[in-house]
Amino acid sequence: METDRHTLEAQISPTMATNTKRLLLSDLVSSDKIDQVPSHYIRPISQRPNLQNVYHDHTIPLIDLHDLYTPNRSHVVHQIGRACRDYGFFQVKNHGVPESTIANMMNIAREFFKLPEEERLKTYSDDPTKTTRLSTSFNIRTEKVANWRDFLRLHCHPLQDYIHEWPTNPESFRDHVAEYCRSARGLALVLIEAISESLGLERDYINRQLGNHGQHMALNYYPPCPQPDLTYGLPGHTDLNLITILLQDEVPGLQVLRNGHWVAVDPVPNTFIINIGDQIQVLSNDRYKSVLHRAVVNCEKERISIPTFYCPSRDAVIGPASELVSEDEPAVYRQFTYGEYYDKFWNRGLATENCLDMFTVTSSSS
Ligand code: OGA
Ligand code: NI
Repeated sequence: METDRHTLEAQISPTMATNTKRLLLSDLVSSDKIDQVPSHYIRPISQRPNLQNVYHDHTIPLIDLHDLYTPNRSHVVHQIGRACRDYGFFQVKNHGVPESTIANMMNIAREFFKLPEEERLKTYSDDPTKTTRLSTSFNIRTEKVANWRDFLRLHCHPLQDYIHEWPTNPESFRDHVAEYCRSARGLALVLIEAISESLGLERDYINRQLGNHGQHMALNYYPPCPQPDLTYGLPGHTDLNLITILLQDEVPGLQVLRNGHWVAVDPVPNTFIINIGDQIQVLSNDRYKSVLHRAVVNCEKERISIPTFYCPSRDAVIGPASELVSEDEPAVYRQFTYGEYYDKFWNRGLATENCLDMFTVTSSSS
């Protein structure tokens, strides 16, 4: 947008005073060497992460996908169904994404965030409708308190529609990220089949509800934070999409809400963390819950996480599966297009109220 470009030029002009407000948090942290969290990142006392109350010894299930294509398939499907119902989160191993693909993705993300400020700022935008953009916090146009995060967001399916927008620096960015996206998509499709089956639906039921399908990803960069008790990388939220496949580096930070307690999900090399998003909650008519999760920061180490958000295309009509609706269990949600849901989600600024509440059969605001 025009106005963005003007602000941007003003911000990076070498003639400006050195304490100009920076667009990206990483540059504030690395260049301005701050030793306190600026006031607009500080949460009110009642909303702080309370890090000493987090559980570290309860974790989410780890499911081995190896048997999905053996006569033991039904056992794995059952495990996935139970994890979706009881946790909304699980980890997977033997997921079919090669270790080299994962390593290349993580390395290229690390290299991207180390590029000089003016190079990274070429993709900067605070407009959430842009399909490729580097930004900061969550949605700086709507939020009151900022989050300790920079992120590069990309659309990645169909790949040929978006790849030309992606950064070309580092040089192998497009190759490595495209390879990762294709592989992550393969895993998403396998999981969506298993989830369909676990709900007693036909194996391809959910796949058929997604229109032309969509896939987005974020490269999240959380710089070290001088006062991690005062702020978040991302505050508690649910994901709006269908399922999320999260790759994280070796630095802990993800926490999941379980029975009213925040539980840390510490990294296990070469596994992915899978979570149910709002669209599965709708399709399953509340059998599976899209669970609150958050990212906290720490004072020592930067952290990179790379979620793949698998989703319907904008025109896909989503609603509870008719097989899961009965007189005893009436439809909880009305039908809507994913585009409508997506726009509402981004405009609300990660407010504490659940976006799903705006799409219930009984909601008047919808
Ligand atoms: C997200 C998210 C968690 C993390 O990007 O939606 O939940 O650990 N990220 O970065
Ligand atoms: Ni999330």
